[in-house]
Amino acid sequence: MTEQFALGKENGKIEVMFTSKQIESRIKEMAEVISKDYRHKNPLLIAVLKGAVIFLSDLIRYMKEPVEIDFIAVSSYGASTKSSGVVRILKDLDQSVQGKDIIIVEDIVDTGLTMKYLVENIGSRRPDSLKVVTLLDKPDRRKVEFKPDYCGFTIPDRFVVGYGLDFNEKYRQLSDLCILNN
Ligand code: IMP
Ligand code: MG
Repeated sequence: MTEQFALGKENGKIEVMFTSKQIESRIKEMAEVISKDYRHKNPLLIAVLKGAVIFLSDLIRYMKEPVEIDFIAVSSYGASTKSSGVVRILKDLDQSVQGKDIIIVEDIVDTGLTMKYLVENIGSRRPDSLKVVTLLDKPDRRKVEFKPDYCGFTIPDRFVVGYGLDFNEKYRQLSDLCILNN
């Protein structure tokens, strides 16, 4: 824990929203539900880089059905593309999703623009089924209608870091999910 104080806990810049223990027990519950829904299936879980990496790696270790994993990276839209919701793929999947049961794994749904784009994009590649699991949802910030199929925690409109989520690439390694105060 000592090193983590150097990352902002010492001056109150960050405060804990969910402890690693709370996250772990919620992820166990989610994995149980998802495993039931995908019984006798072999879903391909697609994590959105980079924020969802830690969530993916914890989630699959509690899943009972055999799973496969892949990764996709998208650009965050700049100011000019914010309203249009144009998202660019920076790293595409290594494999075809055709005929597969796909679960997109996201860290947080905010405006909904990224997930709306990815569901349309991956959905057009003819998977057998397509669902979205997100650790966090900030519905107050939505710009387009989007409802994740599975959600860990619904949170208020606060900027959060840790457990894979970053601010300018910092704080991803915190094991708790923290609110970043400015
Ligand atoms: P969108 O606005 O729903 O398209 O979300 C885009 C991305 O913004 C998410 O996948 C996150 O990577 C990032 N993001 C949104 N809110 C937060 C936050 O509170 N902390 C860290 N990253 C965030
Ligand atoms: Mg993300």
